[in-house]
Amino acid sequence: MSLLSLYPDSVSSVELNQLYLKLELHRQVEKGDVLIYSNYIASVDGRISLFNEDCGEYEVPASIANKRDWRLYQELAAQSDVLITSARYFRQLDKGKAQDLLPVGMEPAYADLLNWRKTHGLKPQPDVVVISNSLDIPLSALVKLQGRKISVLTGCAALPGRVQRLEQAGINVTVFETETVSGKALKQWLIHAAYRSAYMIAGPKVHQTLISDRVLDRLFLTTHLTLLGQNCFHTVLSDSLDSPARLILLSLYLEQNESSGQFFAQYALQQE
Ligand SMILES: NC(=O)c1ccc[n+]([C@@H]2O[C@H](COP(=O)([O-])OP(=O)(O)OC[C@H]3O[C@@H](n4cnc5c(N)ncnc54)[C@H](OP(=O)(O)O)[C@@H]3O)[C@@H](O)[C@H]2O)c1
Repeated sequence: MSLLSLYPDSVSSVELNQLYLKLELHRQVEKGDVLIYSNYIASVDGRISLFNEDCGEYEVPASIANKRDWRLYQELAAQSDVLITSARYFRQLDKGKAQDLLPVGMEPAYADLLNWRKTHGLKPQPDVVVISNSLDIPLSALVKLQGRKISVLTGCAALPGRVQRLEQAGINVTVFETETVSGKALKQWLIHAAYRSAYMIAGPKVHQTLISDRVLDRLFLTTHLTLLGQNCFHTVLSDSLDSPARLILLSLYLEQNESSGQFFAQYALQQE
């Protein structure tokens, strides 16, 4: 599938495969620093998830999820030392309701990405950092990520019994002095752990944590050319910011076919 490049260059045919892989996000910053990036697919009316009354959960709308976007999601994961996710993902995984196992996917379609990691000196799979205040993380779900280093970051109100339960299962738990995990503390923790590329795949609350402290470097946003409506939904950001976060467009591609289309945009967060 080829795309139309709209920015920065105007090119009529660009291959989707390797579009994001060639960014080499794992080597964009010097040793001693970390590049933190996020990625969402949204409808034109801004929905990244809708409430599903049948299962009582918020889910990525099936009508906008698609394989081309998923390929780019996997390419972004391939370049990461570590994935940042939420406890909610593991709660859904435990109930069999998660969208998928964490990337990088083991399906034949992503074998090239696993090889790419090998040739670029990255671990077979990215490590995983879970952000959670409740520490309500089912151990049976964590077991599904066998072989990956898992760390949990939490605030000072964490229940000691829950910290202990995770530590006994071999999980590295860091309790911060603040009530919730702050973006700045998370970035420092990542740098201390010698990570250089961190891919945030959680939802609007973790995103807000990163953006309010201006520690997010890149936002990859796919906009599916669909209007969804519905009043119970998430957008890419929840809660409030002290001041608006300005974005700088780095690249924009359009995929257009008979049935629909989508924009693939990459933004940098403007530093204040
Ligand atoms: N369309 C897309 O591309 C896309 C991408 C990602 C997610 N989504 C959807 O978005 C929805 C929400 O996702 P989500 O629940 O993972 O996202 P979230 O709103 O970012 O995370 C929620 C949980 O993360 C923990 N958390 C967040 N910020 C924290 C902080 N500063 N300190 C401590 N803990 C913190 C809390 O866990 P505890 O409750 O354990 O304390 C909180 O309940 C889901 O339906 C998901 O499918 C869509």
